[in-house]
Amino acid sequence: MKIISSPKEMKEFSASMKAEGKKIALVPTMGALHNGHLSLIDIARQNADIVVVSIFVNPTQFGPNEDYDKYPRQLQADAEKCEEHNADVIFAPTPDEIYLKDASTFVNEEQISQHLCGKSRPKHFRGVTTVVTILFNIVKPDVAVFGEKDAQQVSIIERMVRDLFMDVQIIRAPIIREESGLALSSRNKYMTKMEQDGATRIRKALLAGKELVDTGVTNLDRIKALVIHKVTDAKTRVIYVEVVDAKTSLPISELNIGKSRISIAVWYGETRLIDNIII
Ligand code: PAJ
Repeated sequence: MKIISSPKEMKEFSASMKAEGKKIALVPTMGALHNGHLSLIDIARQNADIVVVSIFVNPTQFGPNEDYDKYPRQLQADAEKCEEHNADVIFAPTPDEIYLKDASTFVNEEQISQHLCGKSRPKHFRGVTTVVTILFNIVKPDVAVFGEKDAQQVSIIERMVRDLFMDVQIIRAPIIREESGLALSSRNKYMTKMEQDGATRIRKALLAGKELVDTGVTNLDRIKALVIHKVTDAKTRVIYVEVVDAKTSLPISELNIGKSRISIAVWYGETRLIDNIII
């Protein structure tokens, strides 16, 4: 496995692979890899000849008071995991290599990113779409794998790829969870064991919402109210609970069984967590 940091070298490597007719898959990450990320690498492996994992804590997607500085960075441990999962390349550039000092161009999706996490993290998705475009332009992947843990993110990436005629196929990967039901996240590291136990109520609340739908309830306000009730304890501050279209992540006014999703974001103690469930 190669570790490449220079965009120029990454471009040259991709060009040489393409010249040999090889299909390239990209798994974009911010590192601190866990089994959720590794499942994406396995899916990439099944869909291409060459698997590139990018590890880049992207400054432009963090707000001024967010956790950019304390976000976990552990390239050595990440490299071992990538190697075990048969990745071919880790692309791990520095911020200066990705963003030139006077860079003034951004990519902005302007509909889906107005909702859900876009409301509480105003420039977050602009940072995501910009860095993913830069990564696509450097790595030139044929396919890229994104997790449904961040369902709104993958909806926005799909929209961007469609709108800008980008030549990359987006694959959605299912959410990987702890046995407790807690969705794996690099941010789970911020929580104590007790908080991690408490945070399992997020999954339980989503399941309660789904069960309500399974009993025939279709009123969106009733579904949301139950999820908010179930998720709330002394440590919870709900950021949003919304029922959205499962594919686009846009708000809906009527439930479409099997094609709708409950999306949730909460502060649990000092940690911002998101999750979702198809209903
Ligand atoms: P990061 O949070 O590191 O996540 C990288 C990828 O792993 C994303 O596609 C995310 O949805 C997926 N992922 C995270 N936890 C998962 C889980 N429990 N199950 C399945 N997939 C999971 O998302 C980002 O980084 C960044 O925004 C990025 C796209 C890399 C742009 O900077």
